[in-house]
Amino acid sequence: MFSKILVKAPSSCANLGSGFDCLGLALNLYNFIEVSYDTQNRFVYNDKEIYINSSNDIEKNFIFRIIKKFFDFQNESMPNFSVKIKNHIPLSRGLGSSSAAISSTLVAINSLCFDEKYSLDALLDFSLNFENHIDNLAASFLGGFVLSGIMNKKAFYYKFLDFEKNFDKNLVFLFVVPNYKIETENSRQILFSSQNVHSHIEYVKGLNKTILNIISFVNMNKQNLFFTMEDEIWHENIRKENIKFFDEMKNIAHIYKACGFCLSGSGPSILILTDKKYLDDIKENLLKIKNFSSISPKFLELEPNFEGVKILWKK
Ligand code: HSE
Repeated sequence: MFSKILVKAPSSCANLGSGFDCLGLALNLYNFIEVSYDTQNRFVYNDKEIYINSSNDIEKNFIFRIIKKFFDFQNESMPNFSVKIKNHIPLSRGLGSSSAAISSTLVAINSLCFDEKYSLDALLDFSLNFENHIDNLAASFLGGFVLSGIMNKKAFYYKFLDFEKNFDKNLVFLFVVPNYKIETENSRQILFSSQNVHSHIEYVKGLNKTILNIISFVNMNKQNLFFTMEDEIWHENIRKENIKFFDEMKNIAHIYKACGFCLSGSGPSILILTDKKYLDDIKENLLKIKNFSSISPKFLELEPNFEGVKILWKK
C-alpha cells in the first residue's frame, strides 16, 4: 500500500507558429506535484501553504478540483490529501503551465489511488474536462513533438518519434518571457471575434505551410524553419498586436540568424529557435531594443523533453 507519490510534468510550447491548435513541443521546465494521504486537506504551492477546509475551497483550487472530479467520476468519495506543488513554469505566459498541472495531478492520483487503472490515453481524454488546449496537454502527457486534435470530444494525437532521432543538439529554444500575462481564453476571444477571414487560396497556403512546418521539424530542415514557422493565416497577425516588441524581436532573430521565431502558444512569451553559437548575439541585441527593459524580460534557454509526464517515486 503506497501513501505518497511524486510526479513531474513538462511545460510545452503550443502552435510552433503555423501549427495553430495542433502542434506542441514538450520542454525541460517542470511542474512537480507530491501527493500524500493526510488527515486534512492541505495545499502547498511553491512553499506557500493554503488550507483547504471546505468544498468551496476545493472548488476554488484548480488542483483539488481536478482530484475531486476524478473521484466523482469513479463514484467514490475523496479522501483528504496533502498536495505540494513546486512549479517552475511561469503562469499565463504561453508555456503550458495549466496543462502540466493537469497531467501531473491526474497521473499522480491515478497511480496513488487507483493502481494505474487508466491508461495515459484515457487520462488525456479526461483532461479535456479541465481545458481544451489539446496541443499543450498532449505534449505534456507524451513529451516530444506531437500533433494533436479533438474529434467527437476525444483526443487524438501522433507523437513524431523521428523528431527525437533527428533533433540537432546544437539548437536551443530561447524563450523571452515578459512581465505581463495574457490569459489564453481572452486571447482566443480576441482572435475569434476578429475579422480574420481569408480567401480559399490563402487557407490552402496556410495549410501547406503548417504541413511543411511539421515536416521541417521532424526532419530538422533548419534552413526552412524560419519560413515554415512564420504564421500569416491562423493567429499570429492578430495576436501580435498585443505582444510588446514583437516586430523588433522578430527582426533581431532574423538578422542574427535564428532558425525560427514565433509566439509561444497564445503568448505573451516569444520563442526564438537558434543555434547555440548565435545565442549570445541574439540576447545581447534584444536587450538593446529601446525600452525593452519595460517588460522585464526573462530569458529561458530550454531543450525538448522527450519522455512526458513521469512518476519519480511512489512509497
Ligand atoms: N493553441 C492554443 C492557442 C494554445 O493558441 O490558443 C494555448 O496555449
